[in-house]
Parts: sequence; C-alpha cells; structure tokens
Amino acid sequence: MLHSDDIAGLAVADLLARFPFMEAFFRDNGIVTAGRERIRLADLIGETEAEDRGTDGNRLAAQAAEYINRMLAFLGEGEQVTRITILPGRDKSGQPEGFERLEIRTSEIISIVGPTGSGKSRLLADIEWVAQADTPTGRRVLINGAPPDPKWRFSSADKLVAQLSQNMNFVMDLSVREFVALHAESRMIRDADSVVERIIAQANELAGEPFTPETAITALSGGQSRALMIADTAILSKSPIILIDEIENAGIDRQRALALLLSEEKIVLMATHDPVLALMADRRLVIKNGGIASVVETTEQERSILGELRALDAQVLEYRARLRRGERLDTAKEGKEAVHA
Ligand SMILES: Nc1ncnc2c1ncn2[C@@H]1O[C@H](COP(=O)(O)OP(=O)(O)O)[C@@H](O)[C@H]1O
Ligand SMILES: [Mg+2]
Repeated sequence: MLHSDDIAGLAVADLLARFPFMEAFFRDNGIVTAGRERIRLADLIGETEAEDRGTDGNRLAAQAAEYINRMLAFLGEGEQVTRITILPGRDKSGQPEGFERLEIRTSEIISIVGPTGSGKSRLLADIEWVAQADTPTGRRVLINGAPPDPKWRFSSADKLVAQLSQNMNFVMDLSVREFVALHAESRMIRDADSVVERIIAQANELAGEPFTPETAITALSGGQSRALMIADTAILSKSPIILIDEIENAGIDRQRALALLLSEEKIVLMATHDPVLALMADRRLVIKNGGIASVVETTEQERSILGELRALDAQVLEYRARLRRGERLDTAKEGKEAVHA
C-alpha cells in the first residue's frame, strides 16, 4: 500500500511516468499539469488556490495515494485472489450446516443445486458480501484463507465479484453501444471501440434474437440483456469470482455462455436447476432448507451422462429454433409447406 508521504515529494513528471493513469486523476480534479512537470505533487496547489478549493497539497497527495492504491488493485497488480473459503453457518431451522470448511480455488467451477426457496441465491449473496457471520445464515467467507480486506466489502472499484443475477433491470436511457462503452471506459480499456464491438458480437451469438449496437438497452428482451451482461463480464471483468444465478431460463446458449465465462484465473459459482450446467461443475453444493447439506464431486460416470444430456440439449435447441422460424417438426418437407399455408 502506497502512503501519501511516498509520493508527496515526487515531481509531476515522475509521478506520471510511474503511474500513467494519474493523468485522469489530475484531469478529474481540475488540476493543470502542462508546463508544471517539475513541480512536486505537494506543491501543486498554491496558497491562494488552496483557499479557493478548500484543499491543499498534502490533502491532494493523500487523495492521489488512495487513487493509486485503488487503481493498482483494480488493474490486477494488487493482491491476487487464489481461493475462497466458506465456513459453515446454520440452516433455516438453526441447525449447523453439513460441512466443515469448504475451499474453492481459481479455475474451479462449483454448481449450487436445490429446490426453489432452499437458499441458493442466499449463498451467492453471502459470497458477494464476503459474509462475516453477519447475514441470516451466519456463514463466514475468507479470501486467500483470511478475513477479507475491508476494501472488498466497501469499495465498488475493487470489485471481488461479478454478479450475473436473475433479474437485470436497466433504468438508464442508453443504447447498447453507449452502455458497453461506458463500462469499457470505466475499466481503462485501451482499445475501447474494438472491445465494444467484440462484446456486442459475442452477445449476439449467445442470444437467440439478434440486436444492434443502436438498440436501447431498455428495449432488450430478458435473454438479450442476459447475453449482453455475460459477454460484458467475460470480456471486461477483472473480478476473480463470478457468481451466476440461474441463467438457464433466458433463452440463451448457456453452455456457450459458461465456456465464455470460464478462465484459469477465476472461480465460478452458479446456482442452477439445469442438469447440464450442474454436471459441468467440478463439484456441486446441495442446498436444503437454507443450509449446504452436502458437497458432491462430479464423477467420471456422471460426466458420461453429461455427454448424453448435451446431445439431448442440442436436439431441444434445434427444435426450438425450428419452431421459432415457423417450421413444423414432423418432416422438413411438410415444414416448408406449412410456412406457405
Ligand atoms: N440459512 C438461512 N437462514 C435463514 N434464512 C435463509 C437461509 N437460507 C436462505 N434463507 C432465506 O430463504 C429465502 C429463500 O432463499 P433463496 O436463496 O432466495 O432461495 P433460492 O435461490 O434457492 O430459490 C430467502 O429469503 C433467504 O434469505
Ligand atoms: Mg434464487
């Protein structure tokens, strides 16, 4: 962690050389640096100016240090998350959960199964909040084996978790392109335009019905907005943990979506009722009455069932696509006639 004393004496030019993103900091704070490159950070604000602004060089250095610390963490140059640990709490009846200590490492996929209302979303919320026995379940979540740095809980810039939730409610009046560009810019992406194009193209491959970059985000269907969030998360998010809450009913290609989200550096947890997604996980957590009742490893035999399920799944997708196009399923020939009828 950088302290303000570490940088207060640095000349503007040296600061910018070490942390190029500080240009944005100066700009956002309305501080002109052109022609003042030799001035020390602590001397950037003169006495009269300090009065007008209600701040001074030392305060500016403290703000700059905080900004740099956040940016470094955000750019992934801070501490890397390699594992999370879930310590048991209680189910809805107040009974202790059926596991001792659950460690999940990066590149692992965990599915969460159980009836509606059993507590799957609650578990995801505990992880997102990095619960410390302060949620209804009493669970505790550790990051790299230790209680979390408060920044994971309280800072939106250092987001630990990318959450893909059941409901996406867009309230902003933006086009798809503007919305994604906003995300890309806030993440300091260099080649923002081409990244935006890639996200929209990827989302269109996941969603059944295509949309254009000019479509208003409020006009997207449930499946389209889900597809957009998945592509956006997969391509832009630096969060080490991805939480997915029941993506199956959105009419998107969910196996493809999952493949897109997977990466060696990430932990993926998904609540699902879909047997294909449940079996794609390395392990599944079985939730009963609000508690994790058991942790089941996916066996070789189950994986072979997965193959059968995928074939069935492909068949279902194909039938759905044909029905959408107005075809009949009895035979291809009759289907064509039916379209003209
Ligand atoms: N261990 C628990 N103790 C108390 N309340 C719980 C517990 N687990 C879940 N709940 C509550 O039960 C309700 C249903 O849980 P939810 O996570 O939405 O179920 P699901 O996502 O499986 O349909 C929620 O109000 C949730 O906060
Ligand atoms: Mg739920």
